[in-house]
Amino acid sequence: MRPKSYDIIGSKEKAVAIVEISDELKDQEKEIAEEILKTHKNVKSVLKKTSERKGVFRTRNYEFLLGDKNTEVIHIEHGCKLKLDPQKVYFSSREGTERLRISGIVKPKETILVMFAGIGPYPIMIAKKQPKVKKIISIEINPMAVEYMKENIRLNRIGDKVIPVLGNVKEGCKEWFGKCDRVIMPLPQDAWNFFDIAYKCLKKKGGFIHLYTIEKENIVEDETKKTINTLKKKINRKIKFNIRKVLPYSPRTNKYCIDLEIS
Ligand SMILES: C[S@@+](CC[C@H](N)C(=O)[O-])C[C@H]1O[C@@H](n2cnc3c(N)ncnc32)[C@H](O)[C@@H]1O
Repeated sequence: MRPKSYDIIGSKEKAVAIVEISDELKDQEKEIAEEILKTHKNVKSVLKKTSERKGVFRTRNYEFLLGDKNTEVIHIEHGCKLKLDPQKVYFSSREGTERLRISGIVKPKETILVMFAGIGPYPIMIAKKQPKVKKIISIEINPMAVEYMKENIRLNRIGDKVIPVLGNVKEGCKEWFGKCDRVIMPLPQDAWNFFDIAYKCLKKKGGFIHLYTIEKENIVEDETKKTINTLKKKINRKIKFNIRKVLPYSPRTNKYCIDLEIS
């Protein structure tokens, strides 16, 4: 009686388990939830995934299986406190190592724009690990995620370094054209479509873009080279790039980060 997999989001005091249960195990789902609660004393609620991530907010549907109906938790990620309710906003605890990597690259005095900022895990990790950063503008379209981002800024005591902006990246970025050293684009389904906006946000001298994308492993190199060659011609700038696998997504398909340096 084992579910395919489950994630635990939260802290030592209160966490939620998010479980995938195959159709064959459907009639045992209550026992599975009980077993999870028994095994992990900090887990107070068990949710079952009932859809893929969908829509603009990239949230999914869940069925509540057992425990406390209040599924709001504070997740601890490399020393950052992230308050969220997985039923209301996007959050993936599996991406913590990638956020730590990015926060380790940032240099003092940078102005950074985080598109698709969600509840703020990228800006908060960066502000914590590189306290000499100048500012981090963080744009997000889901009002509930922006409320959590504001709360997370308070919880982590990072003052006014992170500027939360509620809105669509298409509009919200205009104010920051030509002002940023680095742009982070964590919307793997669609990020390439926002590349022009990200590029416009960089300072005249250039800068860095971290673009997340989902691609089949046998074509990721070729497809990225092709896209970047087209971009080089279009913007007439030098572009160096690196492709990094972040996580597996589905068989032979992964989530990648394309680190771009534009000069
Ligand atoms: C894949 S999630 C990433 C969230 C966050 N960066 C994280 O790592 O947890 C993408 C986020 O982008 C937001 N989003 C989607 N389209 C957007 C747009 N056009 N402008 C601003 N935010 C958008 C969604 O609401 C969602 O919270």
